[in-house]
Amino acid sequence: MKFSSPLIPLALVLIVLYSCPLWAAASPQKYQHFLQCLSEHSSNSYPISKVVYSPINSSYSSVLDFSIKNLRFSKPQTPKPLLIITPSHVSHIQAAVICSKSHGLQIRTRSGGHDFEGLSYVAYRPFIVVDLINLRSISVDDENNTAWVESGATLGELYYRIGEKSRTLAFPAGVCPTVGIGGHFSGGGYGLMLRKFGLAADNVIDAHLVDANGKVHDRESMGEDLFWAIRGGGGGSFGIVVAWKIKLVPVPATVTICSTQRNLEEDAIKLVHRWQYVANKLDENLYLGIILTGGKASTQGGITNPTATFFSLFLGRIDELLATLSTTFPELGLIKQDCVEATWVESTLIIATGVQPIESLEPLLNRTPPTIENTKIKSDYVKEPLPEAAIEGICQRLKAQDIETSQLIFVPYGGKMSQISESETPFSHRAGNLYKIGYVVGWKEQSLKAKKRHIHWIREVYEYMIPFVSKSPRAAYANYRDLDIGANNKYGQTSVEQASVWGLKYFGNNFKKLVYVKTKVDPYDFFRHEQSIPTL
Ligand code: FDA
Repeated sequence: MKFSSPLIPLALVLIVLYSCPLWAAASPQKYQHFLQCLSEHSSNSYPISKVVYSPINSSYSSVLDFSIKNLRFSKPQTPKPLLIITPSHVSHIQAAVICSKSHGLQIRTRSGGHDFEGLSYVAYRPFIVVDLINLRSISVDDENNTAWVESGATLGELYYRIGEKSRTLAFPAGVCPTVGIGGHFSGGGYGLMLRKFGLAADNVIDAHLVDANGKVHDRESMGEDLFWAIRGGGGGSFGIVVAWKIKLVPVPATVTICSTQRNLEEDAIKLVHRWQYVANKLDENLYLGIILTGGKASTQGGITNPTATFFSLFLGRIDELLATLSTTFPELGLIKQDCVEATWVESTLIIATGVQPIESLEPLLNRTPPTIENTKIKSDYVKEPLPEAAIEGICQRLKAQDIETSQLIFVPYGGKMSQISESETPFSHRAGNLYKIGYVVGWKEQSLKAKKRHIHWIREVYEYMIPFVSKSPRAAYANYRDLDIGANNKYGQTSVEQASVWGLKYFGNNFKKLVYVKTKVDPYDFFRHEQSIPTL
């Protein structure tokens, strides 16, 4: 992607060398030795051989591909792991760490596989993937309002299990049900209840983690510094989190979801402009966000009409919501027909699929999203409202007809997000932020030309936004991973100074403490990738 031309042949050679089919054949002794090491370090009651996939295994490709959620990283030339391990017992994770370390291999940890830069399953040094798909048990304790959830579970599975036990308990995490718990919690994790309860990571109260020496810890034995770092400091830097204990939150038995779409060119520019003054000050029980959509997805009769979809989740009934909005945001003109009442768990499915009424909650258990395409994401934080002219500029860009799908997602802050201090967890974007913007571009066409065109589009919009968004540093959301904002080298190596280019954007002043914790718990930088926290 970023190689200049003289390097391409070398890169191709390296990729071929790393291509796994060769390992077992080229160094059978080393390979056998590694497998033996894995057996020796895992529990006899759970033979690890049953969950190890090498490229000569017929299931290798399907296991690898199943959790790839971005086609950009599913090409024949994409480097592939030497082995995939799908642990069914914590000792398999311990063995994977101990043996990879002693054999000079890197580990990529994968939970749901939604990393926007594919860092959970692609690396440029010989590596294995530890895929936690089999570690996904969830136990909900509705007497104490807590749950233990393993990292390989998805958000949909978590919501489903909470809904099975209670209609008045919930968890404030992301919108897409197929997202994995492991990566999502590690990077913060926001959903439509962030203004009332904060992020997923803000509601984690204990965790089990395998460290760089293969030791298992809980909160007490890992210590408060490491427990702080894993709640928002980004996945893949500190260890492999096996399970999380979370605090469930109370919600009313009935919540309200609304959605209304406006043509951006007709009246919506003024509405979007006005929204900036309103959304972060609304009642904490109300999330009112916007998705601006352009590209071919909004093209009719050869003309692209970018749209603004205002959508909300209100922890209460329709009538109360409409009464609130009629005084706080009458310009939106929201009416009863735009809304539907449901239980909270039903609302997660309605929001994810747009389908209602809900006949069954089973689709929450589906680990495969309806479409998988090539995607690229970027993010920004807005501290001062954008002028109308800036929104017009965005609208012009959304009209690009050679772009398949383009979206800007405006996520309102305020409420609980402003009450949590910047240093409480590594996620530093708290008071002073009106809203976050997520820029997303997606395409299915598999040519290099299409890739260049779409990536150029998102980079141009991002550049256009410079005057209007946070500065020094221009902040970004760690879970919207973007290697354009700075990265360690391909092998994950960097200096603290170089890493601070992206580290300060994601974590603000917390970056320094993350480096300190990393140096303490993983001094030899075993858990490493293109945006892992470096050691001093
Ligand atoms: P994946 O398995 O790819 O892991 C992501 C990173 O975490 C990698 O670096 C990986 O190595 C590391 N990691 C994974 N498991 C780990 C573990 N157990 N221990 C330590 N490190 C681990 N975000 C959001 O806040 N709100 C939202 O609503 C959405 N919605 C959304 C929709 C879609 C379609 C996508 C593709 C992404 C989102 N996201 C999001 C972003 C999402 O939160 C982010 O990509 C997460 O890191 C994904 O977690 P996974 O486990 O699925 O990814």
